[in-house]
This record gives sequence, structure tokens and C-alpha cells, in this order.
Amino acid sequence: MAGSSVRWGILGTGGIAATFTEDAMRLPGHEVVAVGSRSAASASAFAERYGIPRAHASYADLAADDGVDVVYVATPHPMHFEPARLCMEAGRAVLVEKPLTTCADDAEKLAAIAREHGVFAMEGMWTRFNPLVRRLRELVADGAIGEVTAVYADFSVAAEFDASHRQWSPELGGGALLDLGCYPVSFTWPLLGPPATVQVAASPAPTGVDANTGIMLGYESGAIALLHCGLTGASPHTATVVGTRGRVDVAAPFYRPSAMTVTRTGAAPEEITADVPGHGFTYEAEEVARCLRAGLTESPLMPLDETVAILRTLDEIAARFTERFADRPAGAAQSTSTQP
Ligand SMILES: NC(=O)c1ccc[n+]([C@@H]2O[C@H](COP(=O)([O-])OP(=O)(O)OC[C@H]3O[C@@H](n4cnc5c(N)ncnc54)[C@H](OP(=O)(O)O)[C@@H]3O)[C@@H](O)[C@H]2O)c1
Repeated sequence: MAGSSVRWGILGTGGIAATFTEDAMRLPGHEVVAVGSRSAASASAFAERYGIPRAHASYADLAADDGVDVVYVATPHPMHFEPARLCMEAGRAVLVEKPLTTCADDAEKLAAIAREHGVFAMEGMWTRFNPLVRRLRELVADGAIGEVTAVYADFSVAAEFDASHRQWSPELGGGALLDLGCYPVSFTWPLLGPPATVQVAASPAPTGVDANTGIMLGYESGAIALLHCGLTGASPHTATVVGTRGRVDVAAPFYRPSAMTVTRTGAAPEEITADVPGHGFTYEAEEVARCLRAGLTESPLMPLDETVAILRTLDEIAARFTERFADRPAGAAQSTSTQP
């Protein structure tokens, strides 16, 4: 890193690239110095919109830009791997949008490339860095609610059907699980660790991706997680962590919370709040900067091996429905139950 500022390059010029850029630009000690797109016109338009000094007409040119410390990869999920690889092989640190890749094997390969090149890499699971989610982890670790026995979390949206949109298109990594289900699964992970059993009920969209997916995870401790993701209706977007001596209710949206209530058995509920600036992405940008300044190649809050392990569970969940969807009509509920 040159001087004290972290110099960001933005790879891709879609919706979340704009959102993240706006948050990064709010932060002292952060500069957005370059953008790369598949097209010169999109790169220039994005650069002009945000006053970004350099517009690159290819991802390779952005990867080769020595004035960039870290590249934010903001392409559809199946297009995360190649650009991230390009950037890391050019010595660039990467923050890659969630899910890191579309399967655990690819995530493992990216982690190996990061380690081989000694560069920082992290999945942009921004929820992890929210101050209340960090506080929740501390409270649970300190035994504030006893042993965790259950986690409930949901992330379902009413998305208009459009076969060409990345949320519905199989070619663009569509489906509720990879787009939204990764949040409740990742949220639960630090609280309960890897599940011992996986059960799934899901229904397909007309494009064959999962449109409405319920997940029940079982743990060696006896705890369970009841998780839901979908594209077919707006759910509350809340999360609750139940323990033997109390519970924590995380207010909507649990993936970017600004309030949660801790209820210890026998005590009055305690509300904890936080002011979340901008769109909520400043915390992950600051964590990247902290790691780069400290010379870390991974964040302890979202390490690569954990991203890989979570993707293994997502693979396992997807395996419960993908083959069956192929010969069932859209909307027909699938119910499967398995022990690994
Ligand atoms: N953290 C969050 O809250 C959050 C929210 C939304 C999305 N996301 C994640 O961010 C990623 C991008 O989502 P988005 O909603 O920003 O998508 P989007 O609006 O469709 O933008 C994706 C961008 O990727 C580039 N791209 C490269 N190959 C492409 C292809 N074959 N088809 C379409 N675009 C392609 C395009 O930029 P160029 O044409 O400039 O190359 C495009 O503008 C996804 O992985 C998603 O999971 C995260």
C-alpha cells in the first residue's frame, strides 16, 4: 500500500458495484482510484459518475493497474472466480462479493491461489463486520444466553420473475440459496459451527433454479437451525438466537442490523443499537483496510477456510434439490431429508 490510503479498484459496473463505491468513498483513508468493465463505455460512465480517475476497458487491465491495492469483484457469482484469479495473480488483494464462488471446490482453488501469491483475499460477506453481529458473537461466546439451542433466520424477497436476471438465470448463478440463503447459513456458522445433518425442502422456478428453500441444520450439540430463503415472497428478514438462558432477537434486516434485543432469563430485555452509515458496507471496507495495514492475508472474522466450509454446506443443500428439479414442474415442492 502506498501511503496510508487504501486504493480500491472496482471490477464490474452493476448494482452492488455502485452501492459499495458510494460507501467506500465516504470513508477517510479510502480512495476509489480505478474501475474495470467488460466495456469501455460502461467503465467510462461509471468513472464519470463517481469521479474515479482511471477507467479500464477490461478486467485484465484493471488487474494490471499497479496503482490499485485491492480489487472489489462485483460480477455475478459464476463470474467471480476468473477475475479474482486474474487480480491475485497480478499481486492484487481481492474482496470478492458473496458467495465467493458457486461451489466449495472453486473456493478452495481461489484460497490456494491467494496463499500461493501471498495476497489478501476475502469473501464480501458484509454482515460479518456489522458491529451488532460482532457484538452478538461476543455475547454468545461469553455465555450471555447460555448454550445456543436454536437459530432462526430468513431472507426471502418478492422478486419479479425475469428469466434473464441473475437471480433467476442458471447461467448467472441464479437461485435463492446462493443469492440469499448464504446469509442465514453464514450468520449461523460462528454460533454453531458446521452442521452434522442437513434437511431441505425446496421448490423450483421456471428456470430450474431454487425459488423457495427451507433448510434445517442439525448439530452434534443437539442445537438446530431453521433457515429460509426465497425469491417468491418477502419474509421478515429477522434472526433469533435461542439459548438455554435467554435469547437474542436481531431486528430486520438481520444481514445489516441496527438493533437487537438481548433477553436474559429473568431479566428485562436489553436493546442494543448501532448507527449503520451509508448502505452498510463501510465496515467490511474498513476490515479490508485494517488487514492490509496489518499485513494480514485473511480476515479473522471471515477466513477463507470458513468460506470454503460454508460453501460445502451450501453444496450439500443444493445437492438435495438440483437433480430432482430437473424432472419436476416449477412450483412443485420438493422435500428431502438426509444425513451426511
Ligand atoms: N453484498 C450484497 O448485499 C449484495 C447485493 C447485491 C448483489 N451482491 C452480489 O454481487 C454480485 C453482483 O450482483 P449485482 O446485483 O451487482 O449484479 P448486476 O447488477 O447484474 O451487475 C453485475 C456486473 O457484473 C459484470 N458482468 C460480468 N460478466 C457478466 C455477465 N455474464 N452478465 C452480466 N454481468 C456481468 C457487469 O459489469 P461490466 O459490464 O461493467 O463488466 C455487470 O454490470 C453477485 O455475486 C451478488 O451475489 C451482493
